[in-house]
Order: sequence, then C-alpha cells, then structure tokens
Amino acid sequence: MRKLFSVIFFIFLFFNLSSCDQESKSDRFDHLDFRTKIRLRQYLGEGKRLYDLHCANCHQLDGKGLARLYPPLKNSDYLMANRADVICGMRYGQKGEIKVNGVVFNMEMPPIPTLVDLEIAEIATYIYTEFADSVQIVTLHEVGEIMQMCQNDSLINMEIKNP
Ligand code: HEC
Repeated sequence: MRKLFSVIFFIFLFFNLSSCDQESKSDRFDHLDFRTKIRLRQYLGEGKRLYDLHCANCHQLDGKGLARLYPPLKNSDYLMANRADVICGMRYGQKGEIKVNGVVFNMEMPPIPTLVDLEIAEIATYIYTEFADSVQIVTLHEVGEIMQMCQNDSLINMEIKNP
C-alpha cells in the first residue's frame, strides 16, 4: 500500500513538473495573437524536424555545437547579428573565418541547395526561437527578399537589421 502511494505521488509530481515547464514555454508566446501563436507553433514543429534532419549532426540537437569544429547556435552572438548571412548560408553554405562568442571558427559549412524558402523560414524560426531569445516568425516574405540578395559563392555581408 505504501509503495502504491509513493508511485502515485511520483506520477503526480511528474505531471505537475511537466505542466510547469509547458506553462513557462507558452508564457513566451502570450503576447502574440491567437493566429500568430498557431502559425508560430506550426513553424516551430516543422522547423525542429528539419533542423534535426539537416543541421543537428554538426550543431547538435541542443544547438551547442561541437568543440572547435562546429560553432554553437545556442546563445550565439553571430546568429543574432547576421540574420541575412545565416538565412543565405542554409542554402548556399558558409566558409571563411568567423567569430562566435569570441571563438574563431574556420571550417566549411556545406550548402543544402534543395531547401526551399518555406523550409528555410521554418528552420530560421526554430533556431531564433529555440537558441536565441526571439519569439517571432521568420516569414516566407523575409526569406524570399533575402534570398534574392544571396550570392552563389559564399558569403556576403549584408546589413539587414532585425525587423
Ligand atoms: C557538415 C556540418 C554542418 C551542417 C550539416 C550545418 N552546419 Fe552550420 N556551420 C558549420 C560550420 C563548420 C560553420 C562555421 C563556418 C565557418 O567557419 O565559416 C557553421 C556555421 C553556422 C552558423 C553561423 C555561426 C553560428 O554558430 O552562429 C549558423 C547560424 C549555422 N551554421 C546554422 C546551420 C543550420 C541552420 C544548418 C541546417 C540547415 C546547418 N548550419 C548545417 C557546419 C555545419
């Protein structure tokens, strides 16, 4: 009987904790209107699936990167400051020396030419929401505009500020 009680207690505790976690996540979306919230969740779901498939072997599922080989996306100052380069880099790849949170990286990130604009928008929404503190959809429109400016050879330095 005692055992049963402790099992019930732990199940109760578990559900309580997980609901707290849910709450703090959705708090971040509270200021958004209903439609935006739904769309953001769709982008995030699809973005996570695509990130896990295309990006996580190098940058890792938790976005923390891999030693000096693959830079972190989580809390990356580069990610926040170079939105256009990041968006172009997904389709066209990236090379040359960059500094991420004070650490120099100089490896080549291969292009993924098959990614369509919508997939790039979904991945971008996911990485900016999950690994940076943005709570905002990276729209198809924004990706379309940036894509027109990407050059085929690697990377450009376009100064596009966050909207
Ligand atoms: C084969 C490994 C590999 C894959 C797969 C890969 N990257 Fe990268 N990524 C790199 C490397 C290496 C760099 C550093 C490039 C350099 O030195 O210029 C980089 C740089 C970056 C940067 C800028 C630096 C930073 O940490 O903020 C971002 C953002 C990024 N990648 C996002 C992605 C996304 C999103 C995907 C999936 C669509 C992806 N990468 C797939 C290896 C990879």
